[in-house]
Amino acid sequence: MIIEKNEAKKILLRGGNLIIPTETVYGLAASINFPEAIEKIYQLKNRPRENPLIVHSATISQVLEFVQNVPKTFFLLAEKFWPGPLTMILEAKGDLNSQITAGLKTVAVRIPNHKETKELLEEAGPVVAPSANLSGKPSSTKISHIEKDFGKEFPILKGEEPTCGVESTIIGWIEQKWVLLRYGFIPKDAIELILGEPIDHSNLQICPGTKFRHYSPDAKIYIQNEMKSKVDAIIGYENRDYETNQKFYSLGRDDEPEKIAHKLFAVFRKIDEDSLEKVWIDINLPREGLYLTLIERILKASSS
Ligand code: TXA
Ligand code: MG
Repeated sequence: MIIEKNEAKKILLRGGNLIIPTETVYGLAASINFPEAIEKIYQLKNRPRENPLIVHSATISQVLEFVQNVPKTFFLLAEKFWPGPLTMILEAKGDLNSQITAGLKTVAVRIPNHKETKELLEEAGPVVAPSANLSGKPSSTKISHIEKDFGKEFPILKGEEPTCGVESTIIGWIEQKWVLLRYGFIPKDAIELILGEPIDHSNLQICPGTKFRHYSPDAKIYIQNEMKSKVDAIIGYENRDYETNQKFYSLGRDDEPEKIAHKLFAVFRKIDEDSLEKVWIDINLPREGLYLTLIERILKASSS
């Protein structure tokens, strides 16, 4: 159910939950000041309690209320990428609610780039917001995805639907170094350009979310070429010729990674809706920029 900002503000300030659009994916929000509302997020999503939440703020001064001992490069990155799809994990101030951090000494922060949501955060204060999907489903990028997971009556702040379609990139300031913890809409090399040095992708499980089961469709997703002719449907790019008669799901053109990102989760959800059993997806993409994020999400969907 779409609601206006004033109604959304009332819900947050009386300790309720609602869904906010962001530029990446929809988020399931609670005001940081209401422990019961934060608890409800874990229940509604069926999310493991050890998986911490991202704090979403409207301004850098709000962000600085949650973190301490930030490096100078934090400000460089914030200036370049905020508001926008970058989440930074930094040392948390000692008094931060452990429901948010899942007991870690760090906290994830970001300023989303979405008009209505930013206005709401300016008026109602910071919120925690994981992606608005049941645990194990892909993030929601359309109203219909939210309705499927949380019902038609669940309140959703009015505003533009997510344009990116994949989640924010997560980097962490760990032992005096930036590390990439989750591939996301901002390419790794764009961050390296600002820092002036390469960053590693951490294989350590610092990002608790990476150790939980990830989305993979009910259909078995194959990437091996020899499976292409043995499946019920193909997910691919409309400017490539697959020479098959199977049902075809298009991710758009192969040279428009932003558009592919925008469509990817919607196509995954459609596969489940259409009750397919075996699907082949074309993962033959350049190993660079936003494509690396797309490849990572596709590999996760195909690996179980
Ligand atoms: O684009 C996004 O980031 C979306 C929108 C709604 O902002 N949000 C999102 O949140 O993807 P969520 O909760 O689905 O994913 C956040 C990830 C999880 O994998 C979690 O484990 C990790 O961030 N995380 C949160 N706090 C952390 C911390 N202190 N240390 C390490 N990882 C953390
Ligand atoms: Mg999520």
